Amino acid sequence: MTPTPLLPLDLGASLQRALLGYLPSAQSEDEAQRLAASVRWSIKHDDMSGSMLGGNKVRKLEFELAVALQQGATDVIACGGVQSNYARAACAAAMQCGLRPHAVLRADDPSQGDEAFGWHGNALLHRMMGTNVRLTGRVPFKTGLLPVMEELAASIAAGGGGRKAHILPVGGSGADGVWGYLEAWAELEAQLRDVSSSDRPSDVFVATGSGGTAAGLAIANALTGSRMRIHAVCVCDDAAYFLGHCDEMIEALGLESSMDAASILSVVEGFKGSGYGRTTAEDLRAMHGIALESGVLLDATYTGKGMLGALGCTAAALAGRDAASFGEAFHGLQGRHCLFWHTGGLFGAMDGMLSELMRSGEVPTAAAVEAAAPTSP
Ligand SMILES: Cc1ncc(COP(=O)(O)O)c(C=O)c1O
Repeated sequence: MTPTPLLPLDLGASLQRALLGYLPSAQSEDEAQRLAASVRWSIKHDDMSGSMLGGNKVRKLEFELAVALQQGATDVIACGGVQSNYARAACAAAMQCGLRPHAVLRADDPSQGDEAFGWHGNALLHRMMGTNVRLTGRVPFKTGLLPVMEELAASIAAGGGGRKAHILPVGGSGADGVWGYLEAWAELEAQLRDVSSSDRPSDVFVATGSGGTAAGLAIANALTGSRMRIHAVCVCDDAAYFLGHCDEMIEALGLESSMDAASILSVVEGFKGSGYGRTTAEDLRAMHGIALESGVLLDATYTGKGMLGALGCTAAALAGRDAASFGEAFHGLQGRHCLFWHTGGLFGAMDGMLSELMRSGEVPTAAAVEAAAPTSP
């Protein structure tokens, strides 16, 4: 399938799309209403874009795997951490397309083999899918993961039978994958077609890890003239990195004469907590409170930080706190309609870390919350 013609980019005509996700994803205000009174919230539910494939990654993979198939691939090699949502979704999508799944995954101590890989969350799903997994240490992409992926691709080709492996970029954030979120924006625009201008969201918040999701949204927002403000809440790296990635995508699309990242994307840096993939009891307590209040489930690595960033910007703006780490999002959110783009990640939340924190008693159970609630007079 070729992309919808809503985006004013003729590049789309030559691009194919493998239909993998359950799309369009819902855009809803129901549970979001209980998030924070000062702002009107809605949620775009990409967490419900499929089960094994669910989350933002499926949108990128629809384009990346179409390219792999077009190029005659028989195998797909993805990479990431042992709990990478992208690597899991890529392997599930590869199987759905009849391609063999491989993953090169970073672990703390790869010499521990099975124990380093683990048995929970996304690792469990790889085990169930029969993904061919290779573990590395915590190495960078270009100098560490990529050489292992290239070596694996070479050994697949050398094995004969006409096999050819397609190597996917980290997080799916490359020039093929960016189409996933250009198209996602077109999908949102179609959902808002009959919504009056006063009811349209003014601000979009999304968690950003490798940068492709936020870049796609920001570029499409600018292309369609939608004039929403796109706020990327960092879960790692910094504003310079994400603006740099967005500029690379602008260039890959040949749009550098009409836009630049700094004028289309606001990056929120203050919510990385204790680092990528780490969480604190305090953050977990906040995520738990959101689940109890609103029924919105978040993971600790991405959407939890994204949502705490979104709510934090609102609260900080209202409390008149120092704007330094909040970027553009700090200004004037009160009374606005903010859309939280839920990017999934819930399998990653099942890696055991949250269970341990809950078990430690640092986070009150629902029963304890109920017991502590004031009784009506
Ligand atoms: C659940 C979830 N949300 C958000 C992101 C961030 O998306 P991106 O890598 O496109 O910045 C990722 C992946 O990195 C993810 O798995």
